[in-house]
Amino acid sequence: MKAKKNIRVKSLKSGPLLGEAVIPGDKSISHRSLILGALCVGRTRIKGLLEGEDVLCTAEAMRNFGANVTRHAIGEWSVDGVGVGGFSEPDRVIDCGNSGTGARLILGAMSTSPITATFSGDTSLVKRPMDRVINPLKLFGAKFFGRSDCKLPITAIGANEPIPISYSMPVASAQVKSAILLAGLNSPGKTVIFEKEPTRDHTERMLKSFGAVIKIEDKDQGRTISLEGYPELKSQSIIVPRDPSSAAFPVCAALIVEGSDVSIPTIALNPTRSGLFKTLHEMGGDIEYSKRGIESGEPIADLRVKFSQLKGVDVPVSRAASMIDEYPILAIVASFAEGKTIMRGVGELRVKESDRIDAMARGLSACGIKTEQDEDTFVVHGNGSRGVVGGVECSTFLDHRIAMSFLCLGLASCKPVTIDDYSAVATSFPNFRGLMEKLGAKFEP
Ligand code: S3P
Repeated sequence: MKAKKNIRVKSLKSGPLLGEAVIPGDKSISHRSLILGALCVGRTRIKGLLEGEDVLCTAEAMRNFGANVTRHAIGEWSVDGVGVGGFSEPDRVIDCGNSGTGARLILGAMSTSPITATFSGDTSLVKRPMDRVINPLKLFGAKFFGRSDCKLPITAIGANEPIPISYSMPVASAQVKSAILLAGLNSPGKTVIFEKEPTRDHTERMLKSFGAVIKIEDKDQGRTISLEGYPELKSQSIIVPRDPSSAAFPVCAALIVEGSDVSIPTIALNPTRSGLFKTLHEMGGDIEYSKRGIESGEPIADLRVKFSQLKGVDVPVSRAASMIDEYPILAIVASFAEGKTIMRGVGELRVKESDRIDAMARGLSACGIKTEQDEDTFVVHGNGSRGVVGGVECSTFLDHRIAMSFLCLGLASCKPVTIDDYSAVATSFPNFRGLMEKLGAKFEP
């Protein structure tokens, strides 16, 4: 693993953000395109793949499991797959970098093949819980050896004769759901998952288009997903839609920087991902949608966002899964709103790339914003028209979304905001700085 140098970046009060922000491809769909491409026979072609470090680790992992993964041009990739059950045993440690998605999905995908693989990651990833995937994958017959607290590094021995499972999800997690579905591909019979709160459904949508037999039933109590094992997945041509979680940064920056007017074309607006936009609308955010359409089975639209006077809102538990990655930037917007914003049911934020509730609370209070927290709730008391003071350095804890959130805050606060390390941003949004500067954002050095 490469040692990274800390890169301090300062963001300064900026004039209006104006123009068009073309966002890179969706991170979740990029990981899945490579993994599903590796699990079918034939060549899957991908356009608009996010070339962030997380996804590049998954591309390398698929090569190590035997797929031929090739980059042809910026964002244009192909994967020559090995077929369901065709993974070969890697001859090196699978380095998942900073990516929980990569680690958990690939653990699932290899856990029903009779091969052994060792997984590791960076100093953030080795602190994150893996028991949530290991527990269901053990039920398929896979074995796991590693640290006493089930964290990476882990050696996985895939099941020789996998048994399909029925599993009721104890946490709302698309990563866990996807790991189980990918494991179910190489198991005989039906794998069934029940989730109380629907989480992002990219794996289900993509499995369907790759030719798997997958059934989804929605009831008041929750969603049941059943997948038939041993499908013959057919290679696809995929256009990866643009990432709503990355779009969240210029959208929110435009809402808090006076005079801003930013257009953001063709953003993925899957209802399992669009909770932030609903919340911003309730806060009084001026966001217009146009040119709604479908790209590779995912709903998309163009957005236009203007600076707005915002008010605090109460964000219900039921919305948490659909905006789980967007709470850090929502907390920034909430500090500029009038009144308090209550974020309920957000305990999962404590086990992301950092403890995101704690990281945001520390940085915001240093910037002069009052916050409150308990295990599962985060409250931000907005300063409204009084504005946010800033003038501090915020710690980012190797977390890309914390880094980008505090950089957005500095664009609108009275005094500059510095982040201790920009390097993590490369995991999900390599051109964040250039894109924001094109809109008029001021960063130093
Ligand atoms: C992801 C699911 C979410 C999200 C992560 C990406 C995915 O994690 O936080 O950034 O691609 O499935 P959980 O499913 O663990 O909540």
